[in-house]
Amino acid sequence: MSECLKITSLVAGYGTTVILEDINLEIPEQGSLAILGRNGVGKTTLLATIMGHTTLHSGSILFNGRAIEKLPVYERARLGIGYVPQTRNIFPSLTVEENLMVAAYGSGDWSLDKVYDFFPRLLERRGNFGNQLSGGEQQMLSIGRALMGNPKLLILDEPLEGLSPIIVDGLMESIRRLLEDKLTVVLVEQSARRALQSTQDAMVLDRGRIAWEGHSNYLLEHPDELSTILLAGA
Ligand SMILES: Nc1ncnc2c1ncn2[C@@H]1O[C@H](COP(=O)(O)OP(=O)(O)O)[C@@H](O)[C@H]1O
Ligand SMILES: [Mg+2]
Repeated sequence: MSECLKITSLVAGYGTTVILEDINLEIPEQGSLAILGRNGVGKTTLLATIMGHTTLHSGSILFNGRAIEKLPVYERARLGIGYVPQTRNIFPSLTVEENLMVAAYGSGDWSLDKVYDFFPRLLERRGNFGNQLSGGEQQMLSIGRALMGNPKLLILDEPLEGLSPIIVDGLMESIRRLLEDKLTVVLVEQSARRALQSTQDAMVLDRGRIAWEGHSNYLLEHPDELSTILLAGA
């Protein structure tokens, strides 16, 4: 199986400020990677760097074998990277359906009908404006918008943050279905257990560097090691 994403010797941050150092990672096609770590260690910065929203100081980012680190954000999106940022990516003054339609791009399985099949709640709310939606619905819409771009790689930054427990279970189930689909997924999620249960590989960041990497299963089977790694440096 070939690689979907390969990052080599990446150093990145905001302007002259360096946040991430010596990041290396590889995700095979249809693979899934959980990125764990305490608040402020650089998880969002890493995802934003893959998408092109930060300053890359050095290193390379290959997507399906193609160097993308110099491409603008919209070209990365068009190549097939779907990004669901921590701050949900929706237009408050457009309806649900308009939000989805303006995000449509490329040829692939994902269409308005398929997104509505996937999130029936969005069909019920199709005529409502973005700012009339609950937190859970906004998150479904943000994910739905990413799917409308027919991505090969889907990047999710704390999709469950701030949602009530009942919503969290439903949304996590949807994310699991995406993981079983043909997509390659990078998931940042505060609940390590939840993230590890639904991914193949995991990486723990600490102060902008990789503190641990390996199979998600390993950390699930060694909870003591998991807490030590997560607490290291705290
Ligand atoms: N726009 C920004 N400009 C400068 N520094 C930032 C910016 N966004 C985040 N940071 C800093 O980068 C570090 C990593 O933040 P972030 O990637 O958001 O961490 P995480 O997602 O793991 O909580 C933090 O020290 C944070 O203060
Ligand atoms: Mg973050």
